[in-house]
Amino acid sequence: MEKVSWKEEYSVGVEKIDHQHQHLFELINKLIERPVSSDDSELVPEILSEMINYAREHFTTEETLMQKYGFPQLELHKKEHDYFINTTAELAIGFKDNKNTTGDEMVEFLKIWLTNHILKTDMKYKEFFKAKIPAGV
Ligand code: FEO
Repeated sequence: MEKVSWKEEYSVGVEKIDHQHQHLFELINKLIERPVSSDDSELVPEILSEMINYAREHFTTEETLMQKYGFPQLELHKKEHDYFINTTAELAIGFKDNKNTTGDEMVEFLKIWLTNHILKTDMKYKEFFKAKIPAGV
């Protein structure tokens, strides 16, 4: 499977958030690069757990900024974040407990969801934050 590569088009104009997105890409790439034989080990659940924890931290960063600056679509945006955490947690359980989710299915979900979310949903705050958050934050 092809790895996810950072491109300028993913930048939302807030340095801290771009770095967090880049770290989420790195975690997805760790999964993509895993040896196939590792699907019977603890490697995938460990990376997924790191992904869920880091995604929570990242979502809190975005939601705190939205709250602070009065971004009007906070609630809708938050619903997407909640969907990601819940779905990833369910897929992780499906993978670990009864193998009804394959490692590749999970990676495909993470890759598609994250890139779409950044390009379609996160981008909605780009112009809004640009006017409110100083460069370099
Ligand atoms: Fe970057 Fe809304 O997650």
